[in-house]
Amino acid sequence: MTEKEKILTVENLSVIFSDSGASKRVIKDISFTLHKGEILGIVGESGSGKSVTVMTIMGLIDSPPLIKNKGSIIYKDSELLTLTNREYRKIRGKEISYIFQEPMTALNPVFTIGDQLTETIREHNRGMSRKDAVKKGISLLEEVNIPDPVQRMKNYPHELSGGMRQRAMIATALSCNPKILLADEPTTALDVTIQAQILSLLKDLVKKRDMSLIFITHDLGVIAEVADNVLVMKDGEIVERGGVVDIFHKPTHHYTIDLLSYISGREV
Ligand SMILES: Nc1ncnc2c1ncn2[C@@H]1O[C@H](COP(=O)(O)OP(=O)(O)OP(=O)(O)O)[C@@H](O)[C@H]1O
Ligand SMILES: [Mg+2]
Repeated sequence: MTEKEKILTVENLSVIFSDSGASKRVIKDISFTLHKGEILGIVGESGSGKSVTVMTIMGLIDSPPLIKNKGSIIYKDSELLTLTNREYRKIRGKEISYIFQEPMTALNPVFTIGDQLTETIREHNRGMSRKDAVKKGISLLEEVNIPDPVQRMKNYPHELSGGMRQRAMIATALSCNPKILLADEPTTALDVTIQAQILSLLKDLVKKRDMSLIFITHDLGVIAEVADNVLVMKDGEIVERGGVVDIFHKPTHHYTIDLLSYISGREV
């Protein structure tokens, strides 16, 4: 079997924040690799460093609180940690895209879904006409299974349900055909039925578009649904890693065993 192509390699990454004047290592020497077509789950309790990890990959951590990064993040052949903001903008939202927990904070309430989607599409495709951007927007809404997309383009964010808003966010994130999608608790705010639908959509999109996905959650049950491989984080460190089946059947770290005990009794 040929080894899968690596798309992102994080090596010995540490992230140091200022914390009331003192410095605090919030990510401590973590290393992992994401392959083409892989869904990598990151799980861990609140404050374990999941969001800081993906925000660092996206180059979105402000200084302060950031004091310094150490280590390396290689995307294809580029070192991301040393990119200038301008260089980062060529990667962020184009090669690597992201979706967050609460689409209401990412969507602007005073513009329609269609306006926001077409604006992002035109940002990524300079010179594209408005008409073509609208067409592409509609086809993206179709791709994320939003019914009646022509009508939905005219809606404001608050006129959509939570699940539909998250689908609209996913459509926006896909508008540049990213190679990597980073999803930070994208289903946490949704009820379980809708959550299952969004997870299944993300899995289908990864396969169809040959993307890679890093999926963050505090819920191992969700990881079991989507991920191929899992990183378990605690206090800024990776305390356990492996294939999803191994993590569920042969957890070695007591922390993973604790996390698993929360979901025992639930079908996963
Ligand atoms: N803007 C910030 N300023 C100062 N410290 C921060 C900031 N953002 C995160 N931290 C600290 O960095 C550490 C990691 O936080 P992070 O947000 O990555 O956790 P998380 O695993 O995503 O948690 P959650 O599940 O609650 O989202 C925590 O100790 C947190 O307090
Ligand atoms: Mg977080």
